[in-house]
Amino acid sequence: MKKILFAASEGNPFIKTGGLADVVGALPKYLDKKIFDVRVILPNYLCIPEPLKHTMVYVTECYADMPRGQEYIGVYEAMADGIRYYFLDNRHYFAGDSPYHQIYEDVNKFAFFSRAVLAILPKLGFAPDVLHCHDWQAALIPVFLKEFYQNDGFYQHTKTVLTIHNQKFQGRWKIDDIENCKDLPAGCRYGAMEAYKESNFLKAGILYADRVTTVSETYAAEIQQQAGGEGLDGVMRQVSGKLAGIVNGIDYDVYNPRTDPYLASHYSVKSIARKKQNKKNLQKELGLTVDPSAMVIGIVSRLTEQKGFDLVNYIMEEMLQTLPVQVAILGAGEPRYQESFLYFAGKYPGQISALITYSEESAHKIYAGADAFLMPSQFEPCGLSQLISMRYGTIPIVRETGGLKDTVEAYNEIWHTGTGFSFANYDAVEMLSIIRYAHTVYQDTPEEWKNMIKRCMDSDHSWQNSAAKYEALYLDLIN
Ligand code: ADP
Ligand code: GLC
Repeated sequence: MKKILFAASEGNPFIKTGGLADVVGALPKYLDKKIFDVRVILPNYLCIPEPLKHTMVYVTECYADMPRGQEYIGVYEAMADGIRYYFLDNRHYFAGDSPYHQIYEDVNKFAFFSRAVLAILPKLGFAPDVLHCHDWQAALIPVFLKEFYQNDGFYQHTKTVLTIHNQKFQGRWKIDDIENCKDLPAGCRYGAMEAYKESNFLKAGILYADRVTTVSETYAAEIQQQAGGEGLDGVMRQVSGKLAGIVNGIDYDVYNPRTDPYLASHYSVKSIARKKQNKKNLQKELGLTVDPSAMVIGIVSRLTEQKGFDLVNYIMEEMLQTLPVQVAILGAGEPRYQESFLYFAGKYPGQISALITYSEESAHKIYAGADAFLMPSQFEPCGLSQLISMRYGTIPIVRETGGLKDTVEAYNEIWHTGTGFSFANYDAVEMLSIIRYAHTVYQDTPEEWKNMIKRCMDSDHSWQNSAAKYEALYLDLIN
């Protein structure tokens, strides 16, 4: 058995703020269990919901020497879908009502997490062949491994993979102000770990990891260019030999219109007509005018600049006044977007609704009940929402960037192909014209629309293919 350990800051179903949790919660299930013993380690946040906490049992603990002195590291474990999850415990670091707080706290917290993972694994007797680290929060694991465990027999066969889910988030802070990094050699802190005179966890991880992956092929190319590199494009070009793009899948068990417990009416590609009941229910529940002919555009998202909401705000009034569409928004994030969407919802009742919260239930209802799904991201490493929409036969309208470009094929009315609508430039007018086009297809050629729904639902974005690519990567590294 090859031992794989995922180390990350979130994972479904225990703790989720975005797509990272979906990936960490799904990919391990789809790796071949005959070859791989895959486990996951997460922080034991105080904010993990109580019912899930009850599934955890205490395993072990130790005290490790760290810059602040002897630090407590506890481990709990729980099984989810046949995968063993470890929860690294320390109330000092993992308290609070969300996984992330201020960056100056977070750098210290995740530096602790990274070194604590390495400190506790010998006690767990689990020496990974591959330590698969996700995002900046786990990016220091390869660093601490090379700097502190060089001659440690326990880790002699351990290789590291770092997956970048979003290059914008790098874990940056003042070099001398990160207590849990103070004992790293100066050559590291002021060398590989330094970028633009700051400490940069992601950069260090990229340079120290044996392999680096990101979550789509297009994004792997984009982060090597100045426009998409978030300041690290030079580093990405430097490591291009060990960099690969592997597109995400989604969990077809969790996102399944035939069995989804949140839906009013279950359906499949053979019974698309039943999707309409979900639309009717959605309109009712959200206070939208119950009108089967209005094209409902769904948005489920973190409300941040990345997701393209400046474009949406720019055209919202013109769209609502000139097209018979409805908009169902679910999201939370930056106040400026929350406020603008609430403003539109107040001004156009019955035509737009804005739920400013995080809700799995509402998300599933929108994915199933909407006709189209809008995702005009400025950049998008992979994007899962468009994949979920397609699974529910809800046609994505996306900007051609990163994983959106790799997963949504633009509609072609001559060849009758495609799984959605897309536009190239980050331009509100261009976006509105593509929404108009989508609406024309929806309204004037319902057969074409229906066939596109079928193509979406038939397209395969399950984890199967991509899991095989990760397996090949692990085996290549191990051998
Ligand atoms: P990102 O990870 O950048 O936020 P993704 O498209 O990869 O974007 O994944 C977002 C995930 O988070 C999807 O599963 C989406 O349904 C979910 N999500 C985002 N916002 C909300 C919300 N307000 N309520 C429920 N689920 C949400
Ligand atoms: C990040 C990215 C998103 C990606 C997700 C999972 O949050 O923003 O595009 O789908 O990670 O990899």
